[in-house]
Amino acid sequence: MMFTSSAPSPDLPKADVYARLCRDLDALFAGERDPIANAANMAALLSHSLPDLNWAGFYILRESELVLGLFQGKPACVRIPVGRGVCGAAVARGETLVVPDVHAFPGHIACDHASQSELVVPLRRDDRITGVLDLDSPRQSRFDEADRRGCEALAAFFTAASDPF
Ligand code: SME
Repeated sequence: MMFTSSAPSPDLPKADVYARLCRDLDALFAGERDPIANAANMAALLSHSLPDLNWAGFYILRESELVLGLFQGKPACVRIPVGRGVCGAAVARGETLVVPDVHAFPGHIACDHASQSELVVPLRRDDRITGVLDLDSPRQSRFDEADRRGCEALAAFFTAASDPF
């Protein structure tokens, strides 16, 4: 199988970009439910399709820690306790965090010094959080409400389409 979809045009409204990414994910998953295969392809798709990202990937919740999962970007910290950093705070609060300036976020964990802003979406299965989708950008205020809504939709699609980690 060769994936032929090109990166979305920068002129497209973000809602349209995320709708297209959801269709791309549907095609990439193509009945495949293995969470490692699907997370790997999703990290690659987001990294190649969304502008101004330096890291895109998953952390998986194992007991009270997030453990590094599939990603695209520089090597990252492996374990993040719940409540620590942006990722751990998103799990503790049970909500998506959009951080316009990571240096102003108390306890932010810097894995790549290029990162300036961040979006972290909790992954949910049966009302339990199972991990997070984490996007980092080298640009301040890269993520807005449209990104939050779009990434929450992609994260929900991933969980519904994949077996548990
Ligand atoms: N910045 C995150 C750590 C993970 S890296 O961004 C890949 C945090 O503060 O939780």
